[in-house]
Amino acid sequence: MALLKEKDYGTPKPKTDKKVTVEIDGFNVEVEEGASVMRAAAEIGISIPKLCATDMMKSFGSCRLCLVEIDGVKGTPASCTTPVREGMKIHTQTDRLAKLRRGVMELYISDHPLDCLTCSDNGDCELQDMAGAVGLREVRYGYEGENHLGQAKDVSNPYFEFDPSKCIVCSRCVRACDEVQGTLALTIEGRGFNSKVAVGGANFFDSECVSCGACVQACPTATLQEKSVVEEGVPDRTVLTTCAYCGVGCSFKAELKGDQVIRMVPDKDGKANHGHSCVKGRFAWGYATHKDRIKSPMIREKTTDPWREVSWEEAIAYSAKRLKEIQAKYGRKSIGGITSSRCTNEEVWLVQKLIRAAFHNNNTDTCARVCHSPTGYGLKQTFGTSAGTQHFDSVEEADVIVVIGSNPTEAHPVFGSQMKRRLREGAKLIIADPRAIDLVRTPHIEADYHLQLKPGTNVALINAFAHVVVTEGLVDEEFVKARCEDDSFAEWRDFAADPVNSPENVEKITGVPAEDIRAAARLYATGGNGAIYYGLGVTEHSQGSTMVMGMANLAMATGNIGRLGVGVNPMRGQNNVQGSCDMGSFPHELPGYRSVADDAVRGEFEGDWGVELDPEPGFRIPNMFDEAIAGKYKGMYVQGEDIAQSDPNTHHVEQALSSLECLIVQDLFLNETARFAHVFLPGTSFLEKDGTFINAERRINRVRPAIKPQQGMEEWRITAALSEAMGYKMPYENASQIMDEIARLTPTFAGVSFKMLDEKGSVQWPCNEAAPDGTPVMHIGEFVRGKGHFVLTDYVPTTEQANRKFPLILTTGRILSQYNVGAQTRRTQNSDWHHEDVLEIHPSDAEARGVHEGHWVSIRSRKGETTLRAKISERVAPGVVYTTFHHPESGANIVTTENSDWATNCPEYKVTAVEITPANHKSEWQEEYEATTPDLRRILERGVVEPAE
Ligand code: SF4
Ligand code: SF4
Ligand code: SF4
Ligand code: FES
Repeated sequence: MALLKEKDYGTPKPKTDKKVTVEIDGFNVEVEEGASVMRAAAEIGISIPKLCATDMMKSFGSCRLCLVEIDGVKGTPASCTTPVREGMKIHTQTDRLAKLRRGVMELYISDHPLDCLTCSDNGDCELQDMAGAVGLREVRYGYEGENHLGQAKDVSNPYFEFDPSKCIVCSRCVRACDEVQGTLALTIEGRGFNSKVAVGGANFFDSECVSCGACVQACPTATLQEKSVVEEGVPDRTVLTTCAYCGVGCSFKAELKGDQVIRMVPDKDGKANHGHSCVKGRFAWGYATHKDRIKSPMIREKTTDPWREVSWEEAIAYSAKRLKEIQAKYGRKSIGGITSSRCTNEEVWLVQKLIRAAFHNNNTDTCARVCHSPTGYGLKQTFGTSAGTQHFDSVEEADVIVVIGSNPTEAHPVFGSQMKRRLREGAKLIIADPRAIDLVRTPHIEADYHLQLKPGTNVALINAFAHVVVTEGLVDEEFVKARCEDDSFAEWRDFAADPVNSPENVEKITGVPAEDIRAAARLYATGGNGAIYYGLGVTEHSQGSTMVMGMANLAMATGNIGRLGVGVNPMRGQNNVQGSCDMGSFPHELPGYRSVADDAVRGEFEGDWGVELDPEPGFRIPNMFDEAIAGKYKGMYVQGEDIAQSDPNTHHVEQALSSLECLIVQDLFLNETARFAHVFLPGTSFLEKDGTFINAERRINRVRPAIKPQQGMEEWRITAALSEAMGYKMPYENASQIMDEIARLTPTFAGVSFKMLDEKGSVQWPCNEAAPDGTPVMHIGEFVRGKGHFVLTDYVPTTEQANRKFPLILTTGRILSQYNVGAQTRRTQNSDWHHEDVLEIHPSDAEARGVHEGHWVSIRSRKGETTLRAKISERVAPGVVYTTFHHPESGANIVTTENSDWATNCPEYKVTAVEITPANHKSEWQEEYEATTPDLRRILERGVVEPAE
């Protein structure tokens, strides 16, 4: 489509159903009570000139351009700050107003560089538009007076620049940073003529700025401008799509010139992000055209052979031949595959179908195994469905927000900003985290309780919350009686009341003072709407599923489920974790979480697919590794997941991958896993995909191709071609037909189609006959399973305990600028903020070990050793160390163990006993890694890729 310019109503829409009627320029308009005159006019297509107003933030009233006349009102009030009143008569175009507006514009223009023709914003500048709108034809004051021209630009941010000589001090940037992003990095310094935008720090890069871009989007002039626009010019067409990073699933306008993406602008109509974004989605998309992208399929007989570039036909035929040979030699179950939570639902659907229908087994699993599989299990047991209960906007109704093992401002930044807005409005905050995340104390926000528990003790903590609720009479008896099972609740009540779960006893386990636990539990149970948000700090434990059920129990017991402002909400890590699970990636479940052993369900798929399906569950990822080492699992198709880097206990994973006779890797880059591969099938980035992603709130968002597949083939077609070569035809013509099949075979998606999504924007499943517009909040009136089920959640300490040899506990997390294993973000300028993982260590632990800031330290666990630079920090408690895992050379998973969740095998990434010592050289693994790095350029330099003939 042509460049999409969303309408700007000037001020936000009031949240009320009450309406008033006013007359504007002779036309009647009915608008929400409290709306501004400017907004009311915009509703009927009357544009009042404006500069400081925009509907993304509250009105400010500084530019004085939007003046109107109102019958019975003296003077010329600003329409952006004047609320409508019933019966008002407003005039927006009079001679008096025209003269006043021209006068205002004259003043602005007399202090503005008149370089419109060569300005990077030419054609996209509101100041230019307004000069035209008010009919400015001359500037009587001349251009010689005192002015702000010729000031130095701040180009320190890698993605945007700040040219103060073009600033009109409208304060939109400052307000965007305060109100939309919540970082408060900008201020207006000085008064009158001397007032100017100031960033706290030497420049943008060295300030508190998190590079979300909200200020750039808000700026009406070229003062804050994307460098890509400065370099390439203004874009001329838009493709609406969805961010491919985290589980927030922000909607974006990809703005292009020809086939070149110029910038990504968050979509104001995006129901997950409402026009906001973070640094990753807005700026870190350059990896899509990075020179490291592999554009040609490659094969090799042995992993010690050089790669050989081949045609798609040869690569597919070669893959199928090797997989068939393996099955003939080792049996039907000797091959399998892994789907990717980065890929679209349509791509994932085909991979699990390939495995079930063409490989004839259920050896399919997904990377969600290593992040949110306990969510699926735990929420299904208690509520009856494997997904979060709310939409993001629900947080705006929460009174008490509980954040457990999640770091929203770093890992889910746009939702983090929305949550911060609610907290600044006065909602209470309880954080349970071993580390002092930003939300513990950030401008205008301070957590009411930071329960800094020892890693691995979540379940003990949630049981203590339950104990307080049960023993202090805080159960919502009415809710429980009406909505939950009597017998499982009665058992749970007795269990929770046991003194073993008392805060006083649990203090000894968690290290959290009993009085804090009691007070926090009381606050959650009695403080109004209580909403729980949790992340991988809950799931990636040996008791991850237990903890999910513990939170669900607590929400049911306190009646905090089934309406706005409450709920149990998993913060999904990757863009399509929810979707990859929904699409049937698990070895024991067909799409829609229905057992492969269920004859009726299997029969439905067999009828549609025309093939007999295996009733036996297949291997989970850890089983695949074990079976590979045991010599029984020999071939694997890995779609978009770097298991060699992301899965725990790297030595074990590498041993498993080395045991395979055919490993097919489908990815954008030659990743770590590709070191062990025999076939490399180049994949596509989100900018090339046609399909859907499902975010953490079950929202099905469209992903649309902005550019052509860089490697010449849509990714779903690769899977379909492999299936056909294996003997099972997948004759789809387009991705839309795959969604039709998903809808046909998955009851919760029955009403979904590309056409419907294109019309409605996005919907949250279930979306079917009963809920044609989707389901923002689940379990209203009744749980999906009928009555809510309470599960006993005994605390079982992990076997991974600190001892004299390994006295510290290592836990892991993410930072804002990098994403997961960093394959994408490391290929962007986001690395300017974070170019290496570091180890956070408490000053007392550092001192005891002679560890100094910035020096190398060795991290040793029972499983392995790696080295990182030390960062001495009081964010972690004594006895706990912390790192991120964004850089492969850090080898964070060299030290993690193979412990996993008892129910789902989700690895226990969050608890590893380690010892830290000063180091003066890299670990053996790192030295070997550096010598054998898979980086394509180095491989090319060594001449080991043979080009296609
Ligand atoms: S980029 Fe975002 S955080 Fe930085 S100053 Fe602008 S609005 Fe604030
Ligand atoms: S930088 Fe842009 S948004 Fe900020 S005050 Fe100046 S003109 Fe307004
Ligand atoms: S919050 Fe998540 S989905 Fe939104 S722009 Fe950032 S990374 Fe993308
Ligand atoms: S737009 Fe109303 S005062 Fe600036």
